[in-house]
Amino acid sequence: MSKIVITGGAGFIGSHLAEALVSDHEVVIIDNLDDYYSPALKRRNLDCVMAKGDAIFVRGDITDLAFVRSVIDDTVDYVYHEAAQAGVRISVRDPFKPNTVNVTGTLNVLTAARDAGVKRVINASSSSVYGTVQYLPFDENHPTIPVSPYGISKLAAEHYCRIFYEVYGLPAVSLRYFTVYGPRMRPDLAISIFTRKMLKNEPITVYGDGEQTRDFTFIDDIVKANLNLLKTGAADGYAMNVGGGQRITLNDLIALIREITGSASEVVYSQRQKGDAEHTLAEISLAGKLIGYRPEVSIGGGLGRFIEWYRGEVRWVPSMPAGF
Ligand SMILES: NC(=O)c1ccc[n+]([C@@H]2O[C@H](COP(=O)([O-])OP(=O)(O)OC[C@H]3O[C@@H](n4cnc5c(N)ncnc54)[C@H](O)[C@@H]3O)[C@@H](O)[C@H]2O)c1
Repeated sequence: MSKIVITGGAGFIGSHLAEALVSDHEVVIIDNLDDYYSPALKRRNLDCVMAKGDAIFVRGDITDLAFVRSVIDDTVDYVYHEAAQAGVRISVRDPFKPNTVNVTGTLNVLTAARDAGVKRVINASSSSVYGTVQYLPFDENHPTIPVSPYGISKLAAEHYCRIFYEVYGLPAVSLRYFTVYGPRMRPDLAISIFTRKMLKNEPITVYGDGEQTRDFTFIDDIVKANLNLLKTGAADGYAMNVGGGQRITLNDLIALIREITGSASEVVYSQRQKGDAEHTLAEISLAGKLIGYRPEVSIGGGLGRFIEWYRGEVRWVPSMPAGF
């Protein structure tokens, strides 16, 4: 049994990780229950974790180094760093918060982990580090030219991980997640927004012509990639893609949701939003080689599972803030 700290463990990905780890390990969750989206959803995520085992929840902010040190001490074996100000569009509106949380917060986590002698930090990075497409699929040698402040903050955090490995010898790995979806997913992401509206036959807005493509990754595949990193140091010092390895246009995504839900929602096309990536597609052979990563859930199968979960959770819809 290891002692594992999960920052952002009340969020979408962090809570799934916690759920997967809590029966075999001592899990400590750090989260400030930030109100970017409803804290009620985060409390509900924590309930799901607690239903599986006795995780410890410590409410606090990763931008506070003294707080981070108080939790990441020399009793901790591994750290999964999932806490962040996620969301590309909010970063375009306010670049300061993603910078503080994602850059300074990561620096705090790495500093505490280094000083505590943690065995490995696994950092949640993002396909947003690539930005402008020069070729597809994105392999890890593709230039990193982010098109949003969020992308810059995730890239800076990755570089800090690399530097902490190279300069201080802290084993650290960054996983570049490609749009993650599944039960309990963030309510600000397209699949969640479309499903919510299409189940009510409300019009949905697509920014652009809908021909932009995304590589969507089901949450279970993301969790597996993370768990593999408890077993191997082969990826220490690396940043690598963790994607579904396939892409789909937003128009086709909507058609799939329509097929599953039988929705009559109208699609309204609007101007593209600044900061949004045009296309994403992950080349995943590096993660395959280093950590045995193989995505198993197709978009059709994963969407079905998400929508089935969502139908059971509809009572939570009113707790979501306006705008989502
Ligand atoms: N979901 C995706 O598609 C996706 C894609 C690429 C990368 N990522 C990255 O994966 C990680 C998890 O994303 P998610 O989708 O689960 O997001 P999420 O917002 O659901 O989870 C992040 C959690 O971090 C917490 N948090 C925010 N600021 C904090 C602070 N200052 N101190 C402590 N806790 C704080 C939030 O309350 C939240 O519970 C993030 O690092 C995100 O950038 C997510």
